[in-house]
Amino acid sequence: EKTVNIGLIGFGTIGSGVVATLNQNLPLLESKVNKKVNLKRIVDLDITTDRGVEVKPGVLSTNVDDILEDEEIDIVIELVGGYQPALNFILRAMENGKHVVTANKALLAKHWQEITASAQDNGVRVSFEASVGGGIPLLAPLNDGLAANNIETIYGIINGTANYILTKMAAEGLDFDTVLKEAQEMGYAEADPTFDIEGHDTAQKLIILSILGFGTYVEQEKFHVEGITQITPDDILFAQEELESVIKLLAIAQIDDGELEIRVHPTLVPETHLLASVNDVYNAVYLVGDVVGPVLMYGAGAGMMPTASAVVADCIDIIQDMERPVSYGPKETRVENIKDIYEVE
Ligand code: HSE
Repeated sequence: EKTVNIGLIGFGTIGSGVVATLNQNLPLLESKVNKKVNLKRIVDLDITTDRGVEVKPGVLSTNVDDILEDEEIDIVIELVGGYQPALNFILRAMENGKHVVTANKALLAKHWQEITASAQDNGVRVSFEASVGGGIPLLAPLNDGLAANNIETIYGIINGTANYILTKMAAEGLDFDTVLKEAQEMGYAEADPTFDIEGHDTAQKLIILSILGFGTYVEQEKFHVEGITQITPDDILFAQEELESVIKLLAIAQIDDGELEIRVHPTLVPETHLLASVNDVYNAVYLVGDVVGPVLMYGAGAGMMPTASAVVADCIDIIQDMERPVSYGPKETRVENIKDIYEVE
């Protein structure tokens, strides 16, 4: 029986969640793939902090070559975050014939073409379910389960921190900074929380959704991105009392006459819409396919264990199907143009 060896780069919040998940459910996972699964190496600059999870002796290392140059390692999980050195780690892993699992939406959104071209050139897979919507199985259903559809519309609440802040401001009238601090303490916010509150994290995730939904990669600089820092408790109250709506930070991508309309901004959502009841750190993506109609996917969009759930699921998927070539989004796109919203009157 073959053993599949995994190397984990990045032993922070999500990395610890991955180790905890493997410790908790290894027999179940092994029974699903009919192979032994071994977390052979964990690399981080800091290997002395107690992460509260059990690690076998000899697994921890500070040298990334112990993963990238180890011929026995089949799958590399990248949970370093940020652009560099994460990009180099991923490219080197693929050049060395290793499949890659990452949660790094910032990196994917910026270097999508380079990363997927390298995966194709090296005959390996790169999987990134955890990059959008944390623990919600979102990308696999969009890519596979809805494969029969032309996707018409995607509306997403895909930043847990921003949604948490808006929810708490609405429910408790708390001020922005107090709630942001709470979200940071719970491990939801990005290392630089301006990514959450200025809409950049939402935009990065929307880029990934648009690739899978519409077969179109749009650079972040090409569309309107506005966060929630200008929203006041008064705005929220006015929306509730006068407009029977809630304010949500929405990721919007939809096809309009062959044009892809893509944008991120605080939006008035009528109280009767399902997205209006997506609260706290929860995320949801509402999409419409031309065959299936509307679909709503909802769940924990951030946090240690939900995100680890998606990372480990990607590993299992890769192990189950190591040989299958994978494609991202439609090969032929219906998008003729990307709407330049800055020119709209
Ligand atoms: N900072 C992100 C959020 C983490 O708050 O949703 C999950 O990507």
